[in-house]
Amino acid sequence: MPDIRNIVILTGAGISAESGIDTFRDAGGLWEQHRVEDVATPEGFARDPDLVLGFYDMRREALLSKQPNAAHEALAKLDRGWSGELLIVTQNVDDLHERAGAKRVLHMHGELKSALCLSCEMRSPWDAPMSDRPPCPVCQAPSLRPDVVWFGEMPYQMERIYAAIRQADLFVSIGTSGAVYPAAGFVRDARELSVRTLELNLERSEGSHWFHESRQGRAGELVPAWVDEVMAG
Ligand code: OAD
Repeated sequence: MPDIRNIVILTGAGISAESGIDTFRDAGGLWEQHRVEDVATPEGFARDPDLVLGFYDMRREALLSKQPNAAHEALAKLDRGWSGELLIVTQNVDDLHERAGAKRVLHMHGELKSALCLSCEMRSPWDAPMSDRPPCPVCQAPSLRPDVVWFGEMPYQMERIYAAIRQADLFVSIGTSGAVYPAAGFVRDARELSVRTLELNLERSEGSHWFHESRQGRAGELVPAWVDEVMAG
């Protein structure tokens, strides 16, 4: 690969699929089991907070029995060994990148293991259920919601992401369907800036044609192979 120093990696649900976490849009995925407007919008939360808190309690609890897979491990190895700039922008709310040991991770759609207080607007690390309306660790108000970005809300740290893309030599998208903006638009932003782009996904995605190169296969196989390739220089 020609002169790669700064890398931005976008990950989606497909990278955690082999860890046993359901994706959203594949057959049997989360959005077939639940209505997006019920469990992933501010309006759904206002209508039925018990349903929404219960949905994220279930996902947070399920996370405890999941382990990072070979793809998370490979990105953590890259993070440890890469001397250039690297940013792993994940749309995932799980913590498998961190549990594999990656440090340069940004959760643009929030995290299951974080709580956002609707009273004081502070974020706190969170491991427990929320359905029983526990007090906020900062202000004690019983006003916690999952610190997850819902449809209609602004993803986190967009400025930092765009700054990283502007500096990048390579943008890599892993395990994402390219259906949700603004993440789905990063490849075009990268192309406009003449950044090299690569997609690693189980199948061709909605945005595959935007990438310079698109490889199809399981993340657990494609990602370790690509990491070896890029680290070999
Ligand atoms: P999707 O469920 O839309 O897409 C998952 C992608 O992963 C699909 O293109 C699959 O083909 C691919 N895939 C499945 N198994 C794979 C494997 N073993 N290896 C590689 N690829 C695999 O999930 P996302 O694109 O992450 O947002 O969804 C984006 C956002 O939509 C999520 O962050 C969430 C959702 O609504 C919010 O909740 C705000």
